[in-house]
Amino acid sequence: MDGLSVEGCKQCSDLVASRSRIVDGVGPDDADLLFVGEAPGEREDQQGEPFVGRSGTVLDDALRDAGLSRADVRITNCVRCRPPENRDPTAEERSNCRPYLDREIDLVDPAVIVTLGKVPGEHLLGRELAVTGEAGSIEEIEIDGTRRRVLVCVHPAATLYDRSQRETFERTIQQAADLTGDGGQAELGDF
Ligand code: URA
Repeated sequence: MDGLSVEGCKQCSDLVASRSRIVDGVGPDDADLLFVGEAPGEREDQQGEPFVGRSGTVLDDALRDAGLSRADVRITNCVRCRPPENRDPTAEERSNCRPYLDREIDLVDPAVIVTLGKVPGEHLLGRELAVTGEAGSIEEIEIDGTRRRVLVCVHPAATLYDRSQRETFERTIQQAADLTGDGGQAELGDF
């Protein structure tokens, strides 16, 4: 890894075979908000950017409604290569990619990490997660000796066919914006 980009990684043989490219995180390297998804899908693999398919549109819309834009936040994934047939990344694949994610968290030093869905939530919190019920909850974790705040959010894809998940998603994105926007530091300090 050179700074925030990963080059030539060959640790996961399935993923090396299925990927067209490694999809690094995008966005400011000093963003207050870091969104963490699961793994790139087909569009992300083609374009080399996280969340550019239908889920990305949902995320962009919610960011806009919360007064933010994609350019204000950093967006990355637990695993940087597209799994075959869009299957979930395995525990081994997540663990192989974890040093890259930890390094990105260390360099960006976000005020809040927002996990998008069950896989990244469980990966970072290190426990089982009932993601719909726990959406909006904030938990502190420690990564390489530094305490980090994690805000649990449902995956944007879950909102595509379920209106109630859409409301939960939008509420959590608004919460993320409020935590880091004007006056938000007071809320973080109170946490
Ligand atoms: N879903 C994810 O979890 N990550 C992406 O980058 C795209 C869709």
